[in-house]
This record gives sequence, structure tokens and C-alpha cells, in this order.
Amino acid sequence: MLNAQQTSDTMISFQGIRKSYGGLDALHTTDINVRRGEFLSLLGPSGSGKSTILNIIAGAIQPSSGRLLIDGQDVLDKPSRERGLGMVFQNYALLPHLNVYDNIAFPLRIRGASNAEIKQKVGSALERVGLVGFEKRKPREMSGGQQQRVGIARCIVYSPSIILMDEPLGALDKKLRDQLQGEIKKIHRDLGTTLVYVTHDQEEALNLSDRICLMNGGRIAQHGTPDELYFEPKSEFVADFVGESNLLDCTVEAANRVSLASGAQLQVKPGCTQDIVVGTHTKVMIRPEKIAITQGAVVPGAAQNSVSGVVRQISFVGGMTRFELELPGGGNLLVKDISSRLSERTAIGQPMHVHWSAADSVVLK
Ligand SMILES: Nc1ncnc2c1ncn2[C@@H]1O[C@H](COP(=O)(O)OP(=O)(O)O)[C@@H](O)[C@H]1O
Ligand SMILES: [Mg+2]
Repeated sequence: MLNAQQTSDTMISFQGIRKSYGGLDALHTTDINVRRGEFLSLLGPSGSGKSTILNIIAGAIQPSSGRLLIDGQDVLDKPSRERGLGMVFQNYALLPHLNVYDNIAFPLRIRGASNAEIKQKVGSALERVGLVGFEKRKPREMSGGQQQRVGIARCIVYSPSIILMDEPLGALDKKLRDQLQGEIKKIHRDLGTTLVYVTHDQEEALNLSDRICLMNGGRIAQHGTPDELYFEPKSEFVADFVGESNLLDCTVEAANRVSLASGAQLQVKPGCTQDIVVGTHTKVMIRPEKIAITQGAVVPGAAQNSVSGVVRQISFVGGMTRFELELPGGGNLLVKDISSRLSERTAIGQPMHVHWSAADSVVLK
């Protein structure tokens, strides 16, 4: 029997899977469908259950209950090597005594490929990861980034239908991580393989994924496109974990309207107060880059919110200026501004007027 969402488009189907260790659930009962060819990231803080999910797919962990289907087939009783998977690990897991060529050839040899086939496939995998010419090197003679390229080549060389990666860039520095992210994205695009990627880095997940499954404490906090998680977080945890956000205490006053502690009234995204009773105390989220600084005599439009605060902090980071405003009645508002050189004209302790669109104010349930 197939569950409601599972279709022929589904490559991996987690159906009521749970994993407990001595009565403690590392993974609460979970349903996830991974689509054929999609790049799905399992994102979340350390200990949230990401690797548990990946290892259950890989066959390294047996779940306590539930069903796992890969391409429509029950696979829980199948050993790892019969599940059609390739894996890339954070610590590369290369064979130290073998050179690059033999490391990449290894999965083909154990599958009984001919020397001619091995030569052709290893050659093309080396090309894909940009390591032609490195065939004779031993892993210890290469940098971390190069070793991980070998790890990726060894994974794609036998064309698995699913690739699993567990924090593959976790041991590399920022610049190399950015570069390899681009390469992994391109490899995924070129090969069209279903890819499940574990990371605790929200920026990485936003950059790479078709969809993100955000985990918290062994449960799915939210599952959706990067856009949905960023702009329509369903909880404070999601709003806080994905990107920077302003989360202001508010009271729901009417359909699509809330008030702040100062009494200021905000119009919010149409529909987002739908299931919330008037009078409820909750939080409204506004992304800092959606807030504009009101300059001169500009009067914000009808569907705009405007507030004033006192500048408490100004910092310049990565091409943008961050202003922290203290709001009347309490609470801080973070504003990110890419265009202005206002920091030269605005000083700490001065008032600042800002505005943003109603559509960018999302009330959390
Ligand atoms: N073999 C084990 N025995 C007991 N608890 C475990 C074991 N493996 C993992 N856990 C627990 O399960 C939870 C989820 O772990 P894991 O999936 O590795 O998290 P993540 O990959 O998100 O950091 C953690 O609380 C961890 O301590
Ligand atoms: Mg992990």
C-alpha cells in the first residue's frame, strides 16, 4: 500500500520510520518522500537526527519501526550494497594505501568491471571533479579539498541512483566550501541523480537544495523549498534557524493586523492570521533585508508599515550595513541595508525611521 503522497515520482519513501535507543527516540515517527532527481537537504542543529535518517537510508542503521521504500521497493531487509546508493563522508574515508586511481576504481572492481570499463569510467569521474593528472597521488599527498573530490569521484563512478552525503564539506574552510558547493551542484545537475545531503549550515542548504527538511530534536520542523522556509516559516524555530530574522512580540488585533508592545499597528501578510484567534499573543517575523530606511519626506504607501526606533548599533559586514534599532516599548529591530552609505550620516543614539511592506510581515502560529 502506498501512502497518500507517494507517487512514481518518489525515489525514497520514509513511512512511519522511528529510531529509538534504549527508550529515547533519536528519530520520532517520520514520513518523508524524496522525489526522483531532487536535491534534498537534511538541515538542523547537531543531534537533531539528520545522520540517523541518512544512515537508515544507507542501511547502516535499522529503524525501530516503519517502512523504507526505494524506487517503490521495500529495502529494509536488503543489505546496503543492494540499495543502489553512493555515499560521501565528512572524513573522506579513502583507502590510504591506494592511489587516487585505485581509490576511485575500487567500487567498480568489487562489482567485477573490466579493466577497459574501469579506465573509461575512472577517467570520466576524474574529469568531472577536476583531478585529471592526480591518478598516482596517495590521499596523504593531497589537500582536504582534493581528497573530498576523490571521495565524490569514487561515489559517482558507478552511477548510483541515489547519492547520500553527510556533512561532506564540514572539514574544509569557507572559501573551499563555497567552491565545492558549486561543483556538487553542477554534478547533481549534470547527472540528475537523487541526492540527500546532510548539513548543519543553513546557508549551504539554502544554496544547494531543491527542498530542505529542517530537523529539530528528532522531528521534522518544516519541509519545503528554500524559499518557503525562508519567507514562510511555520514556527519560531524555523524563522530563527534559517537566515536572520526579526521576531517581534505582538498581539493579533484583527484579520491581517497585529500590534506591537509600543501600541504600533502593523499590517501583515494577507491570510497569515487566518487560523489565529484575535487577542492571541504571538510573534511577527520580518526579514532584516526587507526593511527600508525612510529618507527625507517619503510617505510610506498604504500597504506599508512604518516605525521609528533609536539606533543602538551600526556595523558593516560583507557589503551591507546592519543597523540595530531599539523600538519604543521594547524589542530590537535589525535592518540590513545594501545601498546606502548612511552609516556615515547616522550615529548611534539617533532616531531612524524605517518601513516595509505588509506582505513581508509574517505572523507565526
Ligand atoms: N548509537 C547511539 N546510541 C544512542 N544514541 C544515539 C546513537 N546514535 C545517535 N544517537 C542520538 O540520536 C540523536 C540524533 O543523532 P544524529 O542523527 O547523529 O544527529 P545529527 O546527525 O543531526 O547531528 C542524538 O541525540 C544522538 O545522541
Ligand atoms: Mg550527523
